[in-house]
Amino acid sequence: MKVLSGIQPSGQLHIGNYFGMMQPMLAHMNTSELYVFIANLHAMTTVHEGQRLAEGTIEAAANFLALGLDPDRCIFWVQSDVPEVCELAWALSTIAPMGLIERCHSYKDKLAKGIMPTHGLFSYPVLMAADILLYQSDRVPVGKDQKQHLEVARDLAQKFNLEFGDTFVVPEAAIDETTAIIPGLDGQKMSKSYGNTIPIFADGKELKKRVMAIQTDATPVEEAKNPDTCNLYTIFRLFAEPARLAEVRARYVNGGLAYGYLKLELLELIEKRFAAAREKKKELLADLTGLRAILDRGAEKARAKAAVTMEAVRRKVGSRYSLCK
Ligand code: ADP
Ligand code: TRP
Repeated sequence: MKVLSGIQPSGQLHIGNYFGMMQPMLAHMNTSELYVFIANLHAMTTVHEGQRLAEGTIEAAANFLALGLDPDRCIFWVQSDVPEVCELAWALSTIAPMGLIERCHSYKDKLAKGIMPTHGLFSYPVLMAADILLYQSDRVPVGKDQKQHLEVARDLAQKFNLEFGDTFVVPEAAIDETTAIIPGLDGQKMSKSYGNTIPIFADGKELKKRVMAIQTDATPVEEAKNPDTCNLYTIFRLFAEPARLAEVRARYVNGGLAYGYLKLELLELIEKRFAAAREKKKELLADLTGLRAILDRGAEKARAKAAVTMEAVRRKVGSRYSLCK
């Protein structure tokens, strides 16, 4: 089974990204043919500073490797190193119904946040479909916010297969319901664009500030509380051992739970969970030549796969005109 996912190099990596997408991807390392990439072309829709995008791309690659991605057990590359993806995006855009793309909420959400409406932002889902279909992916682990984009990829695969004959695997989204939407400090979906994140690689002080800022209600310590509606508990649950979680749950239900102490315990758990990754990230960024070599090797492997699909597409749509008799 081929499993593929990508992440944009725009902004600090947060625990929503980790539990929603990265951890499920890492879990596939031993069981599937795994494809992981840094979606720098997608990030161009919102980042318009070349230097920042380039640095962010390297950093995003270091993040993935630091968190345990083994480049020898997957194909790991930077999206722009495989230009075939843009060629496929164009082919798909010629069959993509306007209405299908116009319905995508992520475009509307971005406009509502004041991002300039550009053609790139609008056609974002078509490029994403190209990412997925180019490698004939079966499954795509993502957070729930990407579900509609996966539906676009499926629709375009089916439409192309119908018009030009069987070419693409029709992919499926893999959304784990327990981590589909990790809440942020304010209880809304954790997202860079809401400024409500807990960044994984923030330094000690910044991390503490964020964890202490998790919003809780004003119920006094002795009173019973509902863990299932508590944002702090939802985040704590991601890090705690089952036995400790059961104790904490009992305190919520029976009274005696102090939010401040639980936040400090959570802070310690987060520090511990990512301590090794932090060290590893420093090492990776200290050897940029080594890091680039990993990405070059990945790009070469990815391009070899992409070439096969793209050649089939060119023959079907007729852009490989030299074959005409
Ligand atoms: P952001 O919303 O912070 O901009 P991205 O859009 O870059 O995050 O998301 C990268 C990946 O992480 C996607 O697969 C996305 O679905 C997942 N993801 C992001 N935020 C969350 C969240 N709060 N809960 C679960 N998954 C998330
Ligand atoms: N749109 C995704 C996000 O913001 C990133 C992405 C680009 C992606 N291409 C993809 C994810 C292909 C999965 C498959 O998170």
